[in-house]
Amino acid sequence: MAPPVRPAQFSELAYGTTLAREFNLIQPEDVMKWSVIRPDRASFDFTAGDAVVAFAAAHQMQVRGHTLVWGRHKLDGAEYTPAELPDLLHEHITRVVQHFRGKVFAWDVLNEAFDENGKLRNSIWYDRPGIGLAGKGTAYIEQALRWAHAADPDALLFYNYAEGEAVNPKSDGLYAMLKDFKRRGGPIDGIGMQMHIFDLHPDVSSIGANIGRFTALGVQIHITEMDVALPTNPSTLRNSEDLGRQADVYREIAAVCLAHHGCTAFQTWGFSDKYSWIRSFFRGNKGAALPWDEKYNPKPAYRALKETFADGSCDRVKVSTPELRQP
Ligand code: XIL
Repeated sequence: MAPPVRPAQFSELAYGTTLAREFNLIQPEDVMKWSVIRPDRASFDFTAGDAVVAFAAAHQMQVRGHTLVWGRHKLDGAEYTPAELPDLLHEHITRVVQHFRGKVFAWDVLNEAFDENGKLRNSIWYDRPGIGLAGKGTAYIEQALRWAHAADPDALLFYNYAEGEAVNPKSDGLYAMLKDFKRRGGPIDGIGMQMHIFDLHPDVSSIGANIGRFTALGVQIHITEMDVALPTNPSTLRNSEDLGRQADVYREIAAVCLAHHGCTAFQTWGFSDKYSWIRSFFRGNKGAALPWDEKYNPKPAYRALKETFADGSCDRVKVSTPELRQP
């Protein structure tokens, strides 16, 4: 199990010690994104990303990289012309992946490229203006994967996505892409399922079926960003029923991951409720989504995960609890 991390917090005692004690895999929440790594078109700033790598090295952890190609990246300072976009992205992927070569074992190369209807989402990289492959389906995704593979042939390359963890039109679109890439030998090793759960009642059997059909194609699944948002209405906030249900959801998803041999990593999106994107994303209406509370006390969700990963069947899954750390 693994969280995304905020290196600015490494020096906060409870943050650093909990992270070092509990996890064997970390991923930067934001500091390997374009907005941090590319302060302007000419520069690359790897300082914060390097801090994540150094923390991981000091504590025998692996690092996932996140994320190289995302429609939400703002390129405001980049000053490019449309004709320059392919070179800009090629340079970005190459420089970033080469910089972290041998240090980042798996990359989310693409993030969130499909819409809910299973069609490709309009984005700066696909078609607005795109890198020259607009209207050619998943060709731009394949191109990005090939650039990443050339920059580090040993890194595992992932497509990471949200809100399609169950079988639905979005995951159908992704499944079709994967089948096509696999048939033609495209460089993709895995699918990241974000697993942000917002309503406490995910369709776990459908999620399991989805993981099953992907892994049957020979790719790995990483659960990349799990959190389980609770309502923050004062009358219901973190009552024991919600906390219990939250723990059940974590347990059920972890169990589904363990049930599929190809599911090889389980990450939560943060670990303490003190630092979580949920509260701002829901403008204060949801929160308390992670296994530790704001004071780093373990919640029922933590114990649920610990129990689930304690059955000895998880050697292949990166896990968090100290007893379960791989040698
Ligand atoms: C979020 C971070 O948690 C925030 O700190 C940031 O402001 C916006 O991005 N899916 C993803 C993540 O792939 O990169 C997002 O992270 C959450 C949704």
